[in-house]
Amino acid sequence: MCGITGIVTQNRDDIGALLVMCSRKLTYRGYDSVGVAAVKDGVVNLRKDVGTIDDVDRALGLSKMRGDRGIAQLRWATYGAPTKVNAQPHFGCTEDFYGAHNGNIHNFAEYRKELIDTGHIVRSENDGELCVHAVDKYYEQTDDMFEAVRLSTRDLKGAFAFAVGRADERKIYAVKMGSSLVAGVAPDATIVSSDLPSILPLTNRVVYLRDGEMVVLTPEEVKVYRIEDGRELDRRPEVSNVDPHAAEKGGYPHFMLKEINEQPQVARDVMGVLEGAKSDDWLRLIEDASQKYLVACGSSYNAGIVGTYYFNRLAGVPLIPVIGGQFIPMYGNALKDDSLCILVSQSGETKDIINVLNLVRDTGRGKTLGVVNVIGSTLMFGADAYIPMACGYEVSVPATKTYFSQTIIFAYLAARLGERNGTLDPSEAKRFVGLLRDDLPRLAQTTIDRTGILTKNLAQTLMNERDLYCLGYGFTDGVAREGALKIKEICYNHCEGMYSSEFKHGPLSIVTDNYPVIFVTTREDSWMVINHINEVRARHGRTIVVGEYEESLSHYVDRETDYLRVPESDVLINPLLDVIPLQMLSYYLSVDLGINPDLPRNLSKTLTVD
Ligand code: M6R
Repeated sequence: MCGITGIVTQNRDDIGALLVMCSRKLTYRGYDSVGVAAVKDGVVNLRKDVGTIDDVDRALGLSKMRGDRGIAQLRWATYGAPTKVNAQPHFGCTEDFYGAHNGNIHNFAEYRKELIDTGHIVRSENDGELCVHAVDKYYEQTDDMFEAVRLSTRDLKGAFAFAVGRADERKIYAVKMGSSLVAGVAPDATIVSSDLPSILPLTNRVVYLRDGEMVVLTPEEVKVYRIEDGRELDRRPEVSNVDPHAAEKGGYPHFMLKEINEQPQVARDVMGVLEGAKSDDWLRLIEDASQKYLVACGSSYNAGIVGTYYFNRLAGVPLIPVIGGQFIPMYGNALKDDSLCILVSQSGETKDIINVLNLVRDTGRGKTLGVVNVIGSTLMFGADAYIPMACGYEVSVPATKTYFSQTIIFAYLAARLGERNGTLDPSEAKRFVGLLRDDLPRLAQTTIDRTGILTKNLAQTLMNERDLYCLGYGFTDGVAREGALKIKEICYNHCEGMYSSEFKHGPLSIVTDNYPVIFVTTREDSWMVINHINEVRARHGRTIVVGEYEESLSHYVDRETDYLRVPESDVLINPLLDVIPLQMLSYYLSVDLGINPDLPRNLSKTLTVD
């Protein structure tokens, strides 16, 4: 949520253009409002308003702003409505101080009052403004920007990062206190940002930061300090091998469609990682734990549900899936020294997950295994070990390829665990891993090719349905929830994902003539799912089926579009494929409804707030 970018150049005057070019890469983090503070000849020029970066740039000419340094922010509203005055960056009491934040300041109300009571001119309802005032306050006391920024963090409670500058200094300061922040050193500028994509247009020399650290950008270098005592740390830039063009659409109309189409390659890449050297360490970590919790949010949680079925089936190992925000109230007190929390997060920054990471670290009860996509994220650095999803950037707000990668990771780990604990015959484990490695990429491609037109046509027929269900059984439980989440997220339709045997325990009453219910099934469960389909059809509902072709199922659909057939494969490979037509259906439905699926309203890809 929210993206900040700060740049200090050596001899350039085009700061607006640089900030817009780099910040545009953070659009997935927030698109409620945008602002740029550009400093030229010791004067700060601030322009901001409601809208996406392209809208506001067009209206206010952000990219034409001159200066040699500045800060930009893309906002996803939490504290304060998305209005011009709440847009960031903000000034302090005077226009000498400018800055912007990402995250939440939890003591917002008390601290805002305290600042106002002591004479600060606070203009907005946004917590980011308080960061600038906190620096302003300590500058009054110390006359030293470095100390002012360092001390300001003592007043601010919450998880956040901010960047701040003073009109008369050719420097930008930034702190990392629980939200993501990275820096970079280019030949003619330095940069700090909430995320790597906005650094890469300028440089691949990246400085990764940890919580409790502060950076100072001058035109030539980035220096890192420990906030606690101001001690300088020896942190050199590392060369990032992430492809800067990966965050471009590459000819696709939307990132989402591009990312769906990248899934065959993701299957290859993640299997390369899993069959590499470290997987025995990950397996040992899992084996050594008494209780194994799988903690995740949104799509990552849905993938975890699928994983739970694989762990049970292939390894006889119980995983306890828990929604990130529920973990502490539900299981926090039950953690033991030999518990394991498998923390699954694309961004590696989701606050609900980082809270669990911190709890385990602070109490010393248990270990953490991260499953993470963003390299350099808080989860990657903080977990005892981490498994990379190997997806490259996922830019579109709806998760697709990272969900796919997560399910492959769980299927693989389950097979290897089962082989090691004797639940699975070694030859069967070898065969299944072979299918994941050798067949899944091709099958994923066939699924995309085969269901593309069909899902497009099906979407046309569902355009006016404001309400539907997506039901799964056994392995397709998590798949159905994921399909429903996609439809909710990017089509703004109510779509509930649930267990199909549970539907008759209440929700069935919603079914009337042609009420649409999507059933996702594997070959082995279709006999049971047919019972559930009949319960809907007996009430004249419309049934749509996702799965392999089976004669028995074909009787329960009324038109060709209503049977989304994935290619025939092993019964345990099938649940991995079933999600693809649901991703495509939601994509086409979203586009048909005139929605940009990459940037659904009210959302942000990275949720660093509670
Ligand atoms: O970065 P994370 O995997 O921790 O994100 C979790 C959810 O916010 C995320 O999966 C969200 O549900 C997706 N936008 C759904 O498509």
